[in-house]
Amino acid sequence: MNNNYDKIAGHYDTLSRLVFFKSQVNAQINQLQYIPENGNVLIVGGGTGWILEEITKVHSRGLKIIYVEISAKMITLSQKRNCGHNDVTFVNLGIEDFKSDLIFDVVLTPFLFDNFAEERAAKVFEQLNAYLKKDGLWFLVDFSLNKTNGKWWKWLILKSMYGFFKLLNIVEANNLIDMNPYFLKSHYQIVEERLYYGGFIKATIFKNKMTLI
Ligand SMILES: C[S@@+](CC[C@H](N)C(=O)[O-])C[C@H]1O[C@@H](n2cnc3c(N)ncnc32)[C@H](O)[C@@H]1O
Repeated sequence: MNNNYDKIAGHYDTLSRLVFFKSQVNAQINQLQYIPENGNVLIVGGGTGWILEEITKVHSRGLKIIYVEISAKMITLSQKRNCGHNDVTFVNLGIEDFKSDLIFDVVLTPFLFDNFAEERAAKVFEQLNAYLKKDGLWFLVDFSLNKTNGKWWKWLILKSMYGFFKLLNIVEANNLIDMNPYFLKSHYQIVEERLYYGGFIKATIFKNKMTLI
């Protein structure tokens, strides 16, 4: 199980909208205004690529985007998107196998970490952390269950989702990893945090404050 969404690529957006209406989309769209002009952007696990069209509405040119997606079918769908005059490179690899000499102004990981078991989440966090510039922004969007907002229905939806993805043999995770401690330990600052879908979806923008020695 390597979290590859090939099996449901053609249906993923419909399923997402059926269950979450446009909450998953809105949580990501709101963050896009923070992308700087002419920035270097790394998108990991962008799915069908609808986000590329939304980015193009904010910046129609000047961005250099690297789009890393483990699913070949998701890449094929993404390549059909209107990216304006932005320079997009599609990379069909798991992020774990991706190497780059570039460092990025912005890293996006929308609904990526909720697929991962803790070991992979920790490894991918360290890898992406090394790719982000000082003062660069990391757009994290994921499901959220915590003591203050963890109501039974969120737990139920989450369990059903993991059950569904296990049945299809897609997702390795059995439960949600709280990524906040990773960011806080690595000296990230929270620029913005917004909740959607009754608090079940959390969109956080972190700024990398780590000074390189
Ligand atoms: C839950 S979907 C989210 C898709 C998209 N971000 C959205 O919100 O519509 C997760 C996506 O991450 C991709 N993915 C999972 N593990 C990955 C990895 N290690 N490297 C790159 N992409 C990965 C899957 O193929 C899938 O398209």
